Amino acid sequence: MPAIIHTLGDLEGIREAWRSAGESVALVPTMGSLHEGHKALVAEAGTLADRVVVSIFVNPLQFGAGEDFEKYPRSLAEDEAFLADTTVDIIFAPDVDVVYPEGPEVAPTLDAGAVGELYEGASRPGHFAGVLTVVKRLFDCVNPDVAVFGRKDAQQLFLIESMSNAMKLGIRIVEVGTVRDADGLALSSRNAYLSPTERDQARAIPEALETASHADNPHEAVRVVRQALESAPGIVVDYVDAVDPDTFLPVFDSEMVQHAHLIVAANAGSVRLIDNRLLHFGQ
Ligand code: PAJ
Repeated sequence: MPAIIHTLGDLEGIREAWRSAGESVALVPTMGSLHEGHKALVAEAGTLADRVVVSIFVNPLQFGAGEDFEKYPRSLAEDEAFLADTTVDIIFAPDVDVVYPEGPEVAPTLDAGAVGELYEGASRPGHFAGVLTVVKRLFDCVNPDVAVFGRKDAQQLFLIESMSNAMKLGIRIVEVGTVRDADGLALSSRNAYLSPTERDQARAIPEALETASHADNPHEAVRVVRQALESAPGIVVDYVDAVDPDTFLPVFDSEMVQHAHLIVAANAGSVRLIDNRLLHFGQ
């Protein structure tokens, strides 16, 4: 059973003991309401370091006005039980004033750069500044050797890797592939908001990505996904883009490209869902 820790003092004590024993540490940052996707990250973390810390913190800075910060599912007792049969050593569940002692309203935020303004960032202004700020603060609290993130949030993963490189944090960033339900829908804490009908309709998103995987080039793949989702009942598309996996900028010359990351955001009812798929062409 992992120990739950709320304060920096307790965390630092344990961290120091691990350091003295020469033990390495992997961090899995989460916002809780854990599911099998998070568990895959935890399992990977267990193979990468001697100790595993899972942080559970619903970060106010990454939610925009009118988003679901207040109603975001919080279930620490259930999360603790969910991790009981894993190799997690510590659940770090800080209060807001532990992460933001100066107050979240006045905390200086990190700049997510040009890519941070695109796609998710265009629809959710300030979101990635909030994500990078909390990830950096969690890194500072836990001081991990390695941190594990999911490819489900592909733009987030790209920006965290970019930050880690640019700031020379010396923390290895490891990614884990998207874990899906049997019908293909990517697991997400927000799936809990879906009504049974919306849950059914949301399947159209992974199905469209699957269809697009047979396209000949990125622009065709985008068109295929758009057409499929625009005719799918109950689904409203926010964006569909093909991006260069190395830069996360839109693919420019579609015919010349061998790989592209197809990224999608769409609403099923009032629930915003994102998904992505790496596509290979001409091989
Ligand atoms: P959260 O949505 O809780 O996700 C925590 C981690 O789990 C992220 O790295 C995310 O990509 C990964 N994850 C979520 N669903 C997944 C799935 N179906 N398969 C594989 N991995 C999945 O992402 C956040 O929290 C926050 O933005 C955070 C990074 C913790 C900063 O607050």
